[in-house]
Amino acid sequence: MEKFSGLEEKVAAIRAKIEEAAAGMDSTKAVYEGMKRFMDPKKGVISEMMKEMRSIPAEQRAEYGKRVNALKAWAQERFDELGSQVKERELACRYEQEKVDITLPAERTHAGKLHPITQVREQLIDIFASMGFTIYEGSEIETDYYNFTALNTPQDHPARDMQDTFYLSPEFLLRTQTSSGQIHVMENDRPPIKILSPGKVFRSDDDATHSPMFTQMEGLVVDKHIALSDLQGMLDIFVQKIYGEGTRTRLRPSFFPFTEPSVEVDCSCFSCGGKGCRLCKGTGWIEILGAGIVNRKVLENCGIDPDEYSGLAFGIGIERTAMLKYGIGNIKLLFESDLEVLDQIDD
Ligand code: PHE
Repeated sequence: MEKFSGLEEKVAAIRAKIEEAAAGMDSTKAVYEGMKRFMDPKKGVISEMMKEMRSIPAEQRAEYGKRVNALKAWAQERFDELGSQVKERELACRYEQEKVDITLPAERTHAGKLHPITQVREQLIDIFASMGFTIYEGSEIETDYYNFTALNTPQDHPARDMQDTFYLSPEFLLRTQTSSGQIHVMENDRPPIKILSPGKVFRSDDDATHSPMFTQMEGLVVDKHIALSDLQGMLDIFVQKIYGEGTRTRLRPSFFPFTEPSVEVDCSCFSCGGKGCRLCKGTGWIEILGAGIVNRKVLENCGIDPDEYSGLAFGIGIERTAMLKYGIGNIKLLFESDLEVLDQIDD
């Protein structure tokens, strides 16, 4: 045992050094480095002690080895313990830093969505596309001929006063109605024709329900034996899909130069069901669009024989449809891009 005289002290000194070092170990990295310093299999302090075994007399080696192994086991346990303590502290610290206060009011995020005009426009397109209509998009700048003359509204026709026009020159103007597209389609295509023409139109008109720029959706069907009943059948489907199942339509005589007969189409009030309310001004009916049987003169202007073919046409105001559908009182709300307002308008 003589040879071991210094061993107890040495072991105690190493334990003390480990404890001393442990006090400053404030991170997983520090614990790892400390462990390496004492326990590295090649250069660690304890490994060095193992190496010294060679100089120990053979009969004492077993005892020496046992003591050093005991120290090694103790040190391993101590570092494991230190490691898990530091890890726990680090985790607690991270939790503290990344803590989320779930009682705070949530930040409102704005999910993008389509503008009500686009929504209605797409709904209308879906409805009429399901009946076989295809899209024709005309141009916003038109000639006087396509916007008026070919639509049976010559220069001196009083019906021109119905639509205050923005003229760009004596010949060119901003189209006042998508009906101008009818002429382009009938000039270029032969019946059967079934087109839908959505787009912007312009009129010098400005109040709560009128805007100088608004959107229309024109419908045109030309074929053999087209009658008003075809028009009403299609519009019945349209109002039921847009305003609800029980909605009905009613045709009232009206006047447009390019249709004969012309009608104003009403639908039964979807707010009161026809009993009479504020929306329908007590009548039970709401005016929704203008339509009619294509005037023979218009067919002739486009080289289509009116004795062989007949047509129907209708023009829907998209803003008006949106205003009715969503209960909007002022058309300007649709153009002001106020997200607070637009957010409330949805299906
Ligand atoms: N173009 C007409 C208007 O703007 C609407 C309409 C279209 C009427 C088609 C009849 C046929 O008022």
